Amino acid sequence: MTTAGVTNALSLLDFATNSPLPFVAGRIVVEVPEAYLTDERFEHAGIEGLAIQRLLTLANSVEYLNFSWSVLAAKRIISSPAVYPLAAVALCLKNASHECVGEESITANDFLRAQQKLLSYRLSSDMFSDRQALVCLDYQNPSLPFDLYDESSKRLRREDEFESLVEDLLFAQRGAGFKAEKLPNFRLPLAVMLHELMENTDDHARTNYDGSVLRPNAVRGMLVKRIFQYRKLPTRESEKSPPIPCLEFTVFDSGIGYYNSYRRQLMKGQARGEPVEVGDRQAEIIRKYELGAEVPMDVEYAILQKCLSRHSNRAIPDPRPGHRGLGLYEVLRSLKMMQGMFEVRTGRIHGYRSFLSGEIQLQLEPETSKDRPGMPKASLLDATDRFSHKLTSQQLVRGTVVRIVVPLI
Ligand SMILES: Nc1ncnc2c1ncn2[C@@H]1O[C@H](COP(=O)(O)OP(=O)(O)O)[C@@H](O)[C@H]1O
Ligand SMILES: [Mg+2]
Repeated sequence: MTTAGVTNALSLLDFATNSPLPFVAGRIVVEVPEAYLTDERFEHAGIEGLAIQRLLTLANSVEYLNFSWSVLAAKRIISSPAVYPLAAVALCLKNASHECVGEESITANDFLRAQQKLLSYRLSSDMFSDRQALVCLDYQNPSLPFDLYDESSKRLRREDEFESLVEDLLFAQRGAGFKAEKLPNFRLPLAVMLHELMENTDDHARTNYDGSVLRPNAVRGMLVKRIFQYRKLPTRESEKSPPIPCLEFTVFDSGIGYYNSYRRQLMKGQARGEPVEVGDRQAEIIRKYELGAEVPMDVEYAILQKCLSRHSNRAIPDPRPGHRGLGLYEVLRSLKMMQGMFEVRTGRIHGYRSFLSGEIQLQLEPETSKDRPGMPKASLLDATDRFSHKLTSQQLVRGTVVRIVVPLI
């Protein structure tokens, strides 16, 4: 994490690791080496969203970041910012400057133009690259991507508009082996999930605890990527099966996270729907403390489970056409139906649920359950220790990253 003994310098590649971030007062120099363009860590499923969250965590806790770009990395990002999501988010930070070492013809203006190009990016269904990013900025010169927001009303697009977006993306995956007959079954649930997740960033992750827009950086977005997903807990028969070709959607934000947003609703009123509830055991802690060392892990996790199950009573096991559930529980339910995967990193929690084929299926309601037979319990498994049901405590991060993975075959 240190370069030649300088404590406040790091590389953009450090964000793709788990090493502790240097929270120092003042200025941080971040080098963007040429190796960033080819570093294979970014090919690993799920890494990019976590790296973005670490960058946003650092950026909102230090005064200033100074990005020092290698010539090749600068040239690439300037020509196609949306296909380099982590570097693209770096371009959007308000408390940062950018310079290219060794190439004076590349100026701050070129980086600004790259940022504008990113913000006006439209998802491309041909996916000439395996990944692409849409970014929303909420603080100072707000900017909302056309694909997700209606330009004139500045409101999140309707679900049917999300459906056309998703249809184009799915249709384009036929070359990657996507079975055409799955298309009609996947289009609506995928659109619903992405709509719910983006709506959540809009409802819960743009503002501070007191309701003012987050500063200096209020950044949200969605990444789309083609990946190969390994099973976490394969059954014996599928142990040697190759990883599954999937489409991965990552929705990230720089907000206050699940625990604090739940707490805010509990104490200041509801963003949407019925008032939130907590059990007696959590009530005292959550009313007293923002997320931090005073909050025991089991209370943080209990609140996250509350979030996951908030609308679970609206779910029905076999949805009729036109009927759907709501919120995060609907995301879990749909992923079970699609044999996909769910992952969330917020606060100190990093959990997942996998319903991939060939995976040991855990934490499901019994088939004899009256309300939700065979449906997922609103619980998570530990993402870092895949054999543990108890969630281990991770470094506290800002905001939330949710990753949903949908099999293409
Ligand atoms: N991106 C997010 N940032 C912070 N909190 C979130 C986010 N998404 C969801 N939450 C929390 O999870 C709870 C449940 O979300 P959801 O099931 O979508 O229901 P609703 O949005 O109707 O409250 C929210 O009330 C909120 O406290
Ligand atoms: Mg919601």
